[in-house]
Amino acid sequence: MEFTQFGATGIEVSRIALGTWAMGGRLWGGTNVEDAIQAACEALEMGITTIDTAPAYGFGLSEKIVAEAIRRSGVPRERVVIATKAGLDWDKDGNTFRNSKPERIRKEIEDSLRYLNTDYIDIYQIHWPDPDTPIEQTAATMKELYDEGKIRAIGVSNYNVEQMETWRKVAPLHSNQPKLNLFNRQALEEVIPYCRENNIAVLAYSPLARGLLTGKFDEDAAFPEGDTRAKDPDFTGERFKRNLRIIAELKKLAESCSKTLAQLAVRWVLDQPGVTIALWGARRPGQIQEAAGAVDWELTPEQLSKIDEIFEKTV
Ligand SMILES: NC(=O)c1ccc[n+]([C@@H]2O[C@H](COP(=O)([O-])OP(=O)(O)OC[C@H]3O[C@@H](n4cnc5c(N)ncnc54)[C@H](OP(=O)(O)O)[C@@H]3O)[C@@H](O)[C@H]2O)c1
Repeated sequence: MEFTQFGATGIEVSRIALGTWAMGGRLWGGTNVEDAIQAACEALEMGITTIDTAPAYGFGLSEKIVAEAIRRSGVPRERVVIATKAGLDWDKDGNTFRNSKPERIRKEIEDSLRYLNTDYIDIYQIHWPDPDTPIEQTAATMKELYDEGKIRAIGVSNYNVEQMETWRKVAPLHSNQPKLNLFNRQALEEVIPYCRENNIAVLAYSPLARGLLTGKFDEDAAFPEGDTRAKDPDFTGERFKRNLRIIAELKKLAESCSKTLAQLAVRWVLDQPGVTIALWGARRPGQIQEAAGAVDWELTPEQLSKIDEIFEKTV
């Protein structure tokens, strides 16, 4: 596994972290808890030390799965870097909405500490910017948690440059978590360069485009009820068909590097300047092992150009 320093903090992280959104089941067509625990144990066994979760992933279920996997694996708590989040709320019907008010964050951290069976969070992130709460208020609350020793790093997710600038007038900002994969590169335009200039760590999410970049889907792809990939623009209509044509070409390139498509796709994320961590989502036994082939090599400039050429030429 590759390890690195987490931005301006003294925290050492594995460059591939386990992503646990799908383990919560919600928006992914349900979950198998035992399979998910085993998948998380496999990540820890193969040397992945960093795990990203959130209360919104199954309304606490993902965090409980992470805690159980750490317990079963026998890896000491202090060797695991737990990243979780605050700032999403939900009603009694399970509809989520943004809420980064101080009282919501104070409640969420206590719930997360309980579910994760720990007395501190390594990386605590605001999940989505909340237009109804001044960023300064949210940032000040996160700074209080940091000063109290409840969290070791202050992070945000899905924040743009302006929002990060506002934040940093009030509190330190150690990380941001944007979406980044071969099909979705918007974060490379402004967010990641800004983070790089300011030594803010970047955790890139959906590096496999929710599984599309494993190459396991074809035009007949079907999803269980409640799996929102059925409506995801990457998986629907003409865009999906073009994505599949691109994937066919990328697979050939991956084979020429003796890699799988998923390994090539995640390596591409890791090789983008400014990216600290790629969050590899896995929820079934046997999935995370493939991540071992994404570390300890780099794409050459020729391979990077070839990837861009495939995107340019595919209509
Ligand atoms: N901050 C945010 O707003 C935000 C948003 C999204 C994600 N995230 C974080 O980023 C993490 C990763 O993103 P993601 O979960 O959206 O997607 P991802 O990592 O791009 O893809 C994950 C999915 O791909 C499939 N997969 C993974 N490895 C595989 C393998 N070896 N073989 C076959 N299929 C495999 C699995 O789904 P199936 O088995 O069901 O096909 C898995 O759930 C999340 O878990 C979460 O921690 C954060």
